[in-house]
Amino acid sequence: MKEESGKVSNITNRTILKLLSLVLVLSMALSVLAACNKNDDGVQIDENGVPYIDISFEKGKGPAIARGDSTKLEVKDGELKITNRTDAWNGVNFKGDKFIGNKVQVKASVKSANPTCSLSLQYDLAGTTAYTTIGTGNTSSGYYSQIQGEIEISEQAENVFFYIEASGVDDIYVKEFEVHVVGDYVDPSTLAKLEYANIADYPELKTLYADYFKFGCAIPTTFVSNKNQNYIELVTKEFNAITFENELKPDSILDYETSVSDLSKYNESPAVKFDHLKETLDYCKEHGIVVRGHTLVWYSQTPAWLYHVDYDINKDFVDRDLMLKRMENYIKSVFEWAQTNYPGVFYAWDVVNEAVADGGSILRDCEWKQIIGDDYIEKAFEYARKYAPDGVKLFYNDYNSYQNGKRDTIIEYLKPIAAAGNIDGVGMQGHISTATGVDYFIEAMKMYADLGLVVNVTELDISMPNNNNGEYDQGVYFNKLFKAFIDAKKSGVPLECVTVWGICDNLSWKSADKPLLFADDLSQKTAFKGVVAAVTGEELQKPADYVEIVRDTSTIYEDYEDGKFVGGPRFSATVGVGDSDPFDGSKSLFCTGGVDTYDGYSVDISGFVGKKIHYSFAVRSAAPQTKMTLDIDGEWPNIETITTGSDEWIEVDGYCDVPGGYDTLTLYFETTTTDSFNLDNLLIELAE
Ligand code: G3I
Repeated sequence: MKEESGKVSNITNRTILKLLSLVLVLSMALSVLAACNKNDDGVQIDENGVPYIDISFEKGKGPAIARGDSTKLEVKDGELKITNRTDAWNGVNFKGDKFIGNKVQVKASVKSANPTCSLSLQYDLAGTTAYTTIGTGNTSSGYYSQIQGEIEISEQAENVFFYIEASGVDDIYVKEFEVHVVGDYVDPSTLAKLEYANIADYPELKTLYADYFKFGCAIPTTFVSNKNQNYIELVTKEFNAITFENELKPDSILDYETSVSDLSKYNESPAVKFDHLKETLDYCKEHGIVVRGHTLVWYSQTPAWLYHVDYDINKDFVDRDLMLKRMENYIKSVFEWAQTNYPGVFYAWDVVNEAVADGGSILRDCEWKQIIGDDYIEKAFEYARKYAPDGVKLFYNDYNSYQNGKRDTIIEYLKPIAAAGNIDGVGMQGHISTATGVDYFIEAMKMYADLGLVVNVTELDISMPNNNNGEYDQGVYFNKLFKAFIDAKKSGVPLECVTVWGICDNLSWKSADKPLLFADDLSQKTAFKGVVAAVTGEELQKPADYVEIVRDTSTIYEDYEDGKFVGGPRFSATVGVGDSDPFDGSKSLFCTGGVDTYDGYSVDISGFVGKKIHYSFAVRSAAPQTKMTLDIDGEWPNIETITTGSDEWIEVDGYCDVPGGYDTLTLYFETTTTDSFNLDNLLIELAE
């Protein structure tokens, strides 16, 4: 027994030992797995070792980090609620360092009472914090919208965050957030340090263009305060005008702490601070670089407290009289500071920025308009003229200001201000693409000049087309645009300065679109060579690997019987094939769920660029009219407007000359309301 019991106890000991070691191995394996699979940054690792984020907020806020000191995050019923936002930039951050050096697709389901929300990337690069937009969405429909986009995260980026912010300070709700690597994953720890290009022999834009206009660029003040020599040397060599990308905006210069510290002193005259600008302004002064003041009155990047009683966002808006006093005194303080400290350095100010709504027939809704009324623009210019030193030019600045609807509205609003002598110029921002009509841009310039105003191009960046020849095509477009600028100037258009919005792609707010003149290592892009060639008259050389575009003029025919279609939804519409009341056969295409009139069904007709086409289709809708239109950036030439309304099928047949000069072109169907519509037997073919 003894023996037996000794044996038993030996066996038991061995078993316990084995069990213990198994438990140990298992727990080690589990902790390794846990470490590999999910971290506090919410990053998981897939079966190929590639990191990804996929969060649905079912079990709490997970890796979501509040963006902004006052911002609060709460989770309920699988929704992340972002509250207590006091600035538009407040929202939510998600860490993204595991994706440095990779291209990623980022998606978020977002809802908010704010008209728009955006999904962006924040990162530090050479000591500068950069903010670049990944995607923007209209979020105020009451439903969740998906905001998404792809972005290449620079190899040099550090402290990377994906973030969601909004156009105003209303709460934001997020249901899902995902990040997935596109293509092969690069481990950030294997990335090499960037070698900057030698810029010594670069042609100098400011010298080449001296006979025509000043050549400016936007920079963050950190270039100078960090002593980033590579960037500073390039800026000093190439440019003779500067705009601060963010640091002169109202939320950078309005001083909350001081303003609330003594309301008897500051209630009518908000305090302002400028210390953060000193080093860069001293640098500008020393190098004879003039500065554009950007920007005084803007609906965005203006602190919410400015509009409220006692500067307390929990109290009501102030009344018109007090808001006007705050506006006047704020403008006065800025001009007094500039004139006292940097006389002659500021050549222009954007007095009012982006006041006209997208689409362009009315003023954008914003606090300035709600409190003061539509005349807030006139008032801002009246005060600016009253306090601006002689010789400093006062501008209205806007994007898409070349588009006819917006252009005409801007002109209507500026007429009385120009007549009163309170404005000197129009800033055409120029966040454009290679599909933007150059003639169209120049035409708008001339119309602004006809008001007796000068023109500046204030924020030029041109998205690189996403095709095989993208870099070259972008260069060709820059070349064409600058030739047109030179010709316009020669013909008397008062174009006084052209400013590019940044210097290198990886620090651009649109870095995904590589829209600038210099690459990340500051080497010359074809875009830069195109700008140089426009003034020297040289030819831009086609690269050896240029891929000739083959136009596919095959007929497009869709009867939807096989459930297939070649087009896709435009903006937030949903398209699909259904069997309810088809025109012919048993199926038709339906397009539904649009929240805007321009949501619809879009078909790529790039094969027919520059050709005449024959089209036919059947359409039905309860909307009074259904339209077929070409989609060119800034122009939407309507081809057919069909009276629908009865929801009966209507047959359409016609011809159209598709404009030439575009790499890609789409046509789209939409209704004049947000009603759904059906299409059947869509034919697009080359006309004989
Ligand atoms: O300002 C806060 C800062 O206080 C906070 O510490 C930080 C948190 O990390 O966020 C900062 O906000 C960022 C801001 O830049 C910096 O001032 C915002 O999130 C970020 O979205 C913002 O982006 C800027 C954007 O204007 C805002 O509308 C871009 O860098 C800037 O290039 C862009 O420039 C505008 C022009 O002014 C007007 N025309 C359009 C153009 C492009 O959007």
